[in-house]
Parts: sequence; structure tokens; C-alpha cells
Amino acid sequence: MKSLLWAFWYILPAYFANASPVLVGGGRPIDGGRFWRDGRRILGDGKTWRGFAGGVAIGTAVGMVQYFITPSFYGSFRTAFLLAFALSFGALFGDLVGSFFKRRANLPRGYPAIGLDQLGFLISALAFAYPVKTLDSGKIIFLLIVSPFIHWGANYFAYRMGWKGVPW
Ligand code: CTP
Ligand code: MG
Repeated sequence: MKSLLWAFWYILPAYFANASPVLVGGGRPIDGGRFWRDGRRILGDGKTWRGFAGGVAIGTAVGMVQYFITPSFYGSFRTAFLLAFALSFGALFGDLVGSFFKRRANLPRGYPAIGLDQLGFLISALAFAYPVKTLDSGKIIFLLIVSPFIHWGANYFAYRMGWKGVPW
């Protein structure tokens, strides 16, 4: 049980990075309003530079706070910083890849894609973080199972708070 809490502790920057663009995002879209050769937007208006940069900054900051709470989990500040940055960058990069595929499937911005929305960011975060600090496979499977529920819960909360227009 306790070891499963370490799985959450490990992945926390990715959760924060993925959730914060709802609050800090907006402005110029990363695709600059451009279209792919299928005539659809490359990524869409839901993926902005401010959301990306803000999410990476917030996720990385979370990791630095985590270091001061549990330094021995990370070993060094450098590891904590690099891990949080990799998890945050990976999460938001995975989110962009997800939107790219949603647009190719002709799904409008904000339209749910079950599986991709909940796990794309997570798998990408784990992949980017892998060279810095790994998580054993049991904990990875645990995160893959519980993260969709946390994602739905967090999105429902954001919806009820009026931060986003749809509960997913
Ligand atoms: N957001 C942002 N920049 C990002 C990611 C998200 O500004 N890089 C903001 C946008 O306002 C977005 C909201 O966070 O609408 C919720 O993010 P998400 O659910 O990932 O985007 P969707 O609007 O659902 O767009 P998509 O259909 O492409 O997933
Ligand atoms: Mg969405």
C-alpha cells in the first residue's frame, strides 16, 4: 500500500503539468492556426504556448517542492528537478500528440477521446522520465489503471468550478 503512494508521488508533476493549462492556458495556439493537409487544424485552439509553458513550469515547481519534502526519494536536487521537468514536458508533449491524432480523426477541440485523453499524457510522461528515474513495472501498471479515474475526477472538479466548459 505504502509503495503505491510512492507511485503517485513519482508521477505528481505530470498530473500537475497536465491539469494546469486549463487555468493558465490561452492565447496563441501552438499550431499558429495552421491546417494539416487533410484540411483540419494541426492541433487546434486548445493547445497553446502559454498552456504548454505554464504547465511545464508548474509541474517542475511541484517537483522542486517534493524534493524538500522527501529528499531521499530523489537522492539529489538535480535528479528531482530533471525528473519533474521530464515528467512535465513529457505529459504536455503527449497531450499535443493526442490532439494531433484527434484532429486527424476529425474530432473537434474538446471532444472526448476515451483512452487517449486519460493515458496519452501519462505514457509520454513515463517515457520521457525513464532515463532520469524509473518506476518498477508493478507501479507503472497501477498508475495506468488508476490515472483515468483521477483524470475524470479532476476534470469533473474543474467543470464544477467553472474552469472548463465540459466535464471531461
Ligand atoms: N490548454 C492550453 N494549452 C495546452 C493544453 C491545454 O491552453 N497545451 C488549455 C486549453 O484551454 C484547453 C484546456 O486547457 O481547452 C483543456 O485541455 P485539453 O482537455 O487537453 O484540451 P481540449 O480543449 O480538450 O482540446 P483537444 O480536443 O485538442 O484535446
Ligand atoms: Mg479535453
